[in-house]
Amino acid sequence: MKGAAREVIEPGEISGRERYQLLTSLVVPRPIGWISTRSRAGLSNLAPFSYFSAVSASPMLVSVSIGVRPAGPKDTLRNIREHGGFCVNVVTEDDLDVMVATSVDAPAEISEFADLGLEEANGVRVDAPYVAGCPAVLECRLRQEVDLDDVPSALVIGEVVAVHLSPDLPFLPGTRVVDPHRLRTVSRLGGDFYGLAAPLTRRARPVWKV
Ligand SMILES: Cc1cc2nc3c(=O)[nH]c(=O)nc-3n(C[C@H](O)[C@H](O)[C@H](O)COP(=O)(O)O)c2cc1C
Repeated sequence: MKGAAREVIEPGEISGRERYQLLTSLVVPRPIGWISTRSRAGLSNLAPFSYFSAVSASPMLVSVSIGVRPAGPKDTLRNIREHGGFCVNVVTEDDLDVMVATSVDAPAEISEFADLGLEEANGVRVDAPYVAGCPAVLECRLRQEVDLDDVPSALVIGEVVAVHLSPDLPFLPGTRVVDPHRLRTVSRLGGDFYGLAAPLTRRARPVWKV
């Protein structure tokens, strides 16, 4: 490719759909926050969000960006606002298909848990359900909703107030690092591609030599 001119794309030159395709195929792999919430009427809700990230360890903060449709907020956002909490179910290879199934734009009165026959359990620190069989769950309290002016998305910051871990997930010896060989997570790539738990490699961080 030596000498070939690079294509320079300015966001204003392409459509909104193309901006989405470009951004989400380059900011990869993205972790998937599979978020469960409860409505004011008590109905449980479950949907995946890949505009999801860790923000801080002390306090433990995560962020999720949830699109706001012209008709109003998605069920997840409405429930987080109403209840002030949510659970993040960590998506592993076993749950890939059911996670994708929960992205269906179901009517607000339908619980994805009931619709897909998923067993739910109740959060111990927040009023939100979680996927009972999920090996790792973060219970989060709504800490802040960041105002993005005219952006049709809400940036939600949650504080992790409880972490559930399956006994099948050991820590690396002497640490609280969950063994990545055992937590076989799925990530989101561009289009409808997903990354599976790939062969792992390890690199220690360098220390500056004085
Ligand atoms: C893997 C995956 C990741 C997604 N990430 C997001 C996201 O970050 N933000 C968003 O608004 N929607 C995202 N979606 C779409 C939502 O899951 C979808 O709109 C869902 O119906 C919302 O459900 P709710 O109305 O019950 O909250 C994603 C879908 C999939 C399959």
